[in-house]
Amino acid sequence: MRTVLPLGDELHRGAWRALALSTAVALDGVSQQFGSVVAVDDVSLTVESGEFFSLLGPSGSGKTTCLRMIAGFDLPTTGRIVIGGEDVTSVPPYRRTVNTVFQDYALFPHMSVAENVAYPLMVRGSDKRTRVQRTNEMLELVQLSGLENRRPGALSGGQRQRVALARALINAPPVLLLDEPLGALDLKLRQQMQIELKALQRQLGITFIYVTHDQEEALSMSDRLAVFREGRIEQVGSPQSVYDTPKTAFVAGFVGSANILTREQAEALGLSPVTTALRPEKIHLHINGDGSQKGLVHCQGRLVGRQFLGINTRFEVEISQGLVLDVIRQNTLDQILPEPEQQVTLSWRVEDVRMLEPV
Ligand SMILES: Nc1ncnc2c1ncn2[C@@H]1O[C@H](COP(=O)(O)OP(=O)(O)O)[C@@H](O)[C@H]1O
Ligand SMILES: [Mg+2]
Repeated sequence: MRTVLPLGDELHRGAWRALALSTAVALDGVSQQFGSVVAVDDVSLTVESGEFFSLLGPSGSGKTTCLRMIAGFDLPTTGRIVIGGEDVTSVPPYRRTVNTVFQDYALFPHMSVAENVAYPLMVRGSDKRTRVQRTNEMLELVQLSGLENRRPGALSGGQRQRVALARALINAPPVLLLDEPLGALDLKLRQQMQIELKALQRQLGITFIYVTHDQEEALSMSDRLAVFREGRIEQVGSPQSVYDTPKTAFVAGFVGSANILTREQAEALGLSPVTTALRPEKIHLHINGDGSQKGLVHCQGRLVGRQFLGINTRFEVEISQGLVLDVIRQNTLDQILPEPEQQVTLSWRVEDVRMLEPV
């Protein structure tokens, strides 16, 4: 049964909060094979109620396939899917307590904004008074009041995505699935919508499962995220824990950027002989060979590349034959930028070096 909880009602918000103690969605050993392609390979995952959980990974890593299996559009080849404590592995999509928001909005072009938003209640046979009232509440929630009678074709991309959101929220699903919902928007609008979406999720207390290939988006919005690679989950954790302590070279390179040192390269720098990651912003760059401080690793290098990025400048420093480190330095007022070919000194704290699982 689909849980029906009117929005805007304190009592029911309380009920949602109470649900926050339990698991919203669980995947247990789920795989999906399309012919010879293994799109999702033995994924197990638990999403708590009320959580903003992101599936993050490059294109083709199995994120959408996972979401479609949770929605019920695809049946897993193996494994179990549990929603709200119920095994729904073979339950059809319309009987699952989840709604989906797609990147391309999927609005009905011949219907007005209000008709689009009210559609799920219409299908369910709600009376007109309830439909109008809930539609108005939803439009207010997504800040579209006044645009009831417009057609989707007469809206901007951001407004269309708000209509899609309102339609997905009107029957108050405990879980909302979002597949790259901001992918079609320009950067400024995307950043604004990220803040609004996050605030909306907090306000409603709904569980969001959010697919994105954009690491910055996942880091800034999620309570926790899962990093996907070739159909498998490589790491799960809070944004900060995944960024600060990546387990593998792939995670270190995909979530943020990282200098990856082989065990031999690490050893040559006086570090433990294991594969390691060092974030570019953790490396200090000195021009005059100064900066020798206790507790820091030092090395000399030659500047071989410089890229101005506005807030930061990215430097490439060759510290030995074939080993070039990326260094990011904030552009503060008082700094003189080193010139290409100049000798520089690099230093970093030993504790900022992260040991990775062997490749
Ligand atoms: N219906 C399908 N038939 C065949 N292959 C598919 C189908 N859907 C997805 N795939 C393949 O499965 C892999 C994962 O796809 P997808 O889940 O869409 O990745 P993502 O959303 O992370 O970009 C890709 O190699 C893709 O080509
Ligand atoms: Mg996808």
